[in-house]
Amino acid sequence: MNINKLIKEMESFASREKVPIMQDSSLLFILNYIKENKIETILEIGTAIGYSAIRMANENTYVTTIERDEARYLEAVKNVKLADLEHRIKLIFKDAFDTNIKDKFDLILIDAAKGKNREFIEKFQRNLKLGGTIIIDNIDFHGMVGKSSEIKSRNLRSLVRKIENFLKYLETQKEYKVEKINIGDGLIILKEEL
Ligand SMILES: C[S@@+](CC[C@H](N)C(=O)[O-])C[C@H]1O[C@@H](n2cnc3c(N)ncnc32)[C@H](O)[C@@H]1O
Repeated sequence: MNINKLIKEMESFASREKVPIMQDSSLLFILNYIKENKIETILEIGTAIGYSAIRMANENTYVTTIERDEARYLEAVKNVKLADLEHRIKLIFKDAFDTNIKDKFDLILIDAAKGKNREFIEKFQRNLKLGGTIIIDNIDFHGMVGKSSEIKSRNLRSLVRKIENFLKYLETQKEYKVEKINIGDGLIILKEEL
């Protein structure tokens, strides 16, 4: 299937079925980062229906991506086949916290449970190549980060507080150089300090 047509269909599916996928501006930034930094191997936490994985996979890149929701994983399997990218994208159906991967990657993209960013870093940083990059999406959480005290819903307030605490933790850690990119829903780039 024509890849541009498939991407459009996936965008419609995501909007219709309320599957969260990465904003175009964030993805364009990441695609440019991949190109400029000659990234070849990517580990993604949070496949959903394979949208970002399909957009990141090309003749120079390999993507391994993890999803714990079966319906979304199966949709991703279908889409990766339609994109003819089975040789470039490895799909894993498992909770990331129960997944042990031996390989090391140039880039780790964290786009899964938004309150668990620190835990994902702690689990997967051993899979980062020396000098590698970690990118985390939705760090602004729809403009709510920094305003948790104004949020009425307890669950939502707790989630936003977790992201705020994660940002505070980033200020104290010494392993990574931290950059905040004000694109889309906010990206954090962690570059290993050598
Ligand atoms: C924002 S969506 C991913 C969107 C995708 N990266 C894209 O842009 O096309 C987040 C996904 O992470 C999955 N997820 C959340 N926590 C997870 C975990 N612990 N292990 C695996 N997948 C997880 C959710 O089921 C959801 O489908």
